Amino acid sequence: MAQLNDNYLKLKAGYLFPEIGRRVKAFCDANPDAAKRLIRCGIGDVTEPLPPAVIAAMHKAVDEMASRETFHGYGPEQGYEWLRAAIAQNDFRDRSCDVADDEIFVSDGTKCDTGNVLDILGAKNKIAISDPVYPVYVDTNVMAGHTGEANEAGTYAKLVYLPCKPINGFIPEPPKKHVDVIYLCSPNNPTGAAANRPQLEAWVKYAIEHKSVILFDAAYEAYISDEPDTGASSSPKSLSQLLRLGKRQGHVTYDDVNGAFPDLPPEKLNEVLTKFQQEKINLIEGTKADSSSNRLPHSIYEILGARECAIEFRSCSKNGGFTGVRCAFTVVPKSLNAQTKSGEFKPLHPLWLRRTTTKFNGVSYIVQRGAEALYSQEGKAQVRGLIEHYLGNAKVLRDGAKKAGLKVFGGVNAPYIWVRAPKSVTSWQAFDKILNEANVVITPGSGFGSKGEGYFRISAFNSRANAEDVARRLQELKW
Ligand code: MLT
Repeated sequence: MAQLNDNYLKLKAGYLFPEIGRRVKAFCDANPDAAKRLIRCGIGDVTEPLPPAVIAAMHKAVDEMASRETFHGYGPEQGYEWLRAAIAQNDFRDRSCDVADDEIFVSDGTKCDTGNVLDILGAKNKIAISDPVYPVYVDTNVMAGHTGEANEAGTYAKLVYLPCKPINGFIPEPPKKHVDVIYLCSPNNPTGAAANRPQLEAWVKYAIEHKSVILFDAAYEAYISDEPDTGASSSPKSLSQLLRLGKRQGHVTYDDVNGAFPDLPPEKLNEVLTKFQQEKINLIEGTKADSSSNRLPHSIYEILGARECAIEFRSCSKNGGFTGVRCAFTVVPKSLNAQTKSGEFKPLHPLWLRRTTTKFNGVSYIVQRGAEALYSQEGKAQVRGLIEHYLGNAKVLRDGAKKAGLKVFGGVNAPYIWVRAPKSVTSWQAFDKILNEANVVITPGSGFGSKGEGYFRISAFNSRANAEDVARRLQELKW
């Protein structure tokens, strides 16, 4: 008799978003009037039309398919060279990240890639996953048999959970114990938190020391508003500002110190240096703090050493509005190695290439031409317009939730607002109340892991009018 994959039987309930869809459908069937005013801020699905540059490129590509001379059949499984080159140049080399064209693998989605990557990793790896987290990372590991059973809270045995809470700004710290594979997502889904340079540096350092692989999901990188992460873009003006800068960067320069204290008497200088020592801040030669080092990294490859320990996932869904078009890509550096059973280190790049060419026939020519247009001058400006629209919604929703008396996180460098439900209200209770009384769909935080309990996520993917309406309705709720 044929046997099924028992691991699937360990999965808790349905995948989060279909489960929400089921509950929303039941509500709408039972309440047709309320259904008419329903606003969906649950799944992070874009609402605005594709950028005109993409539409034009895709129309042109469709026309090419109409004639024998310009028709395209199967393309390269890993993506057309012109798209891989545009990605590597614009998303990486223009940001001083050393990524070659043939390290880019074009695919039909980050969801698929973060699941499929397990094909090229061994079955015995110790896996670390943030909590709360995008559920795909956990569920695909369950399906692959990398976990034990789940407990009542949905926590699986054998996974190492990295708690993300207000105290760590929802950015996980490297664990004390050894792990082999680490999932990081920044800007984060669901919490909206974005990791700064020292936080990513700590992870890369850990991964190199432990010979681990970081799976870095940067699907939301376009939402990084490129503001310095602590507002310290100007030169530090006081000791506390210097210390803040030093803690963030691990160092300050002599010029920073001179800028903050132009006429520093020697005894004061000694006091400053002692403070640096206590805080483990190095004082280095160099000009004023490079404002780019204050900026939030868009890619893990902005961190020295990441090419030796990280795979990065990117998507055209949330920047170019491709959720229904499907195009994404994964970066596998040729310098990234992992261990064989016999203890040898071998590169992962050929394995991912082999997997891709065996199990995938590539993204359609028409879609890849559309994705290429995202990197044209007009395409870039139009994408910026979309991001500003959704970030504008995020601000409206943040402000609305705050005025409603709720504690609010995220929504600044990400299209998600992470909201603390009032005391003793569970995530699903908040979901039901907001659905029934405000006729708004949100996502219950507990669906992202046990540490998400008591929170809910509001997606900013919507029209401005709907975002404003949701902000108003949240303020009308009595908890
Ligand atoms: C979400 O709502 O978390 C995302 O839209 C799901 C996804 O991108 O697959």
